[in-house]
Amino acid sequence: MPIRAAARVDLGAISANVGRLVEIAGPAQVMAVVKAEGYGHGLVQSALAAQNGGATWLGVAFLEEALSLRAAGVGGRILSWLAVPGEPLAEAVRADVDLSASAPWMVAEIAAAARTVDRVARVHLKADTGLSRGGAVEPEWPELVAAALKAQADGQVNVVGLWSHFVHGDDPSHPTSARQIAAFTAAVALAEQAGVRAEVRHLANSGGLLELPQSRFDLVRVGIAIYGLSPFADAAAAASLGLRPAMTLTARLALTKRVPAGTGVSYGHRYQTQVASKLGLVPIGYADGIGRAAANAAEVMVVGRSGNSRVTISGTVSMDQFVVDLGADEDDNFAAGDEVVLFGTGERGEPTADDWARALNTISYEIVSRVGVRVPRVYEGG
Ligand SMILES: Cc1ncc(COP(=O)(O)O)c(C=O)c1O
Repeated sequence: MPIRAAARVDLGAISANVGRLVEIAGPAQVMAVVKAEGYGHGLVQSALAAQNGGATWLGVAFLEEALSLRAAGVGGRILSWLAVPGEPLAEAVRADVDLSASAPWMVAEIAAAARTVDRVARVHLKADTGLSRGGAVEPEWPELVAAALKAQADGQVNVVGLWSHFVHGDDPSHPTSARQIAAFTAAVALAEQAGVRAEVRHLANSGGLLELPQSRFDLVRVGIAIYGLSPFADAAAAASLGLRPAMTLTARLALTKRVPAGTGVSYGHRYQTQVASKLGLVPIGYADGIGRAAANAAEVMVVGRSGNSRVTISGTVSMDQFVVDLGADEDDNFAAGDEVVLFGTGERGEPTADDWARALNTISYEIVSRVGVRVPRVYEGG
C-alpha cells in the first residue's frame, strides 16, 4: 500500500545520540527514557537502539511499558516509576523490572508481590525534592526509608536506588536546582545512615546531564536528548552537542486544485487565498497528533519537481487532513503524490520539531510523542 503518511525513525541516530550522551555522562550510567512509545519513536525499537548506543538502563512510566519491553525480549535493567494501588506488581517482579516507591503502601505492595513470586524485588525510593509530583516529601522520607529497610530485612525487597526529579529540567541553572541537589543529597545521607546501600542515586534528566554536572550522581535519566532534540528553549543546543533528530514526519499530497483569489479554506474559513492559488491537501490531522493550534501557524516543506517550498498550514486542521496554499505555481511544480515533510532534521530546509514547538507554543516532547497510532513508523538505520 502506498504510504500516505509516515514517521521515519532513524535508529542509527538514536544509537549515536546515546553514544554521545554516554560519553558526556561518564562515569555516570545512562538510562534511556523510552516511555510513551519512546516519545513517539517506538518503544522496543528505541530501547534496542539506545542499548546499542550504550544505555545500560531503560526508564518507563508505566508497568505495561516495562512488560511490553520484556515480552519483546528486551534485556538489561528497566525501571518503571508510576503505579496506582492494586497494579499487578508480581508480574513486574517476575519480569525482573525495578520499581519505584514514593510511599510505604507502595513498599508493602511490592513486598507482597515479591512474596507471591518468591523473588526479591528491586526498589528505588523516590524523594520529592521540590517538584511536588511523585516522591516522599522530607517529613515522610524517614518513614518510607524505614518501611523499605524493614521489607529488605524480611527478604522481600532490595533497595537499589534513591532518586528524585528536577523542577526546571529545561533550565537547570535555575536556583531551585541547587536547592534540589542539596535536598537530594540530604535524603541520600539520611537513607544511608539508616542502612540503605543503594547501587544508583539518580536525579538528572537531559537538561541536568547537559548543564549541571553535579546533578549526574550515578545514573542520568535521559529522554528527549536521545531522540536528538534539545531539552532547552534553545533548540540549537542539541545540534551543537552533535545530537541528531531521529524522527522525520512526512505525508504525501492527496490532491491539488486551483482556486481563485478570495477562496475560503477549511472549516470556518480561517484562511483565505490572497491570489489565485493552487491548494494542496495533506492527509494527516489532529487525530494523528497535528494539533489544531497549527492552523495558520506551523510550516511544512512540500517537495516539488523543480524545488521545495516551505508553506504555512492554511486554515483549520481537521481530524484527518489539512490544506496548504502552494501559491500560483504557474510551472506546476506541485502535484498529488508529492512528499510533504512536516518536520525532520532541518538538513533539507524542512522545519524541525523545535520549529513546530515554537509555532504551537509547546515543547518538542509534545510534538513527537503525540504522533498518533495511524501514522506508521518506518525504521531506518537500525
Ligand atoms: C521521572 C523522569 N525522569 C526523566 C525523564 C526524562 O526527561 P527528559 O526527556 O527531559 O530527558 C522524564 C521525562 O519526562 C521523567 O518523567
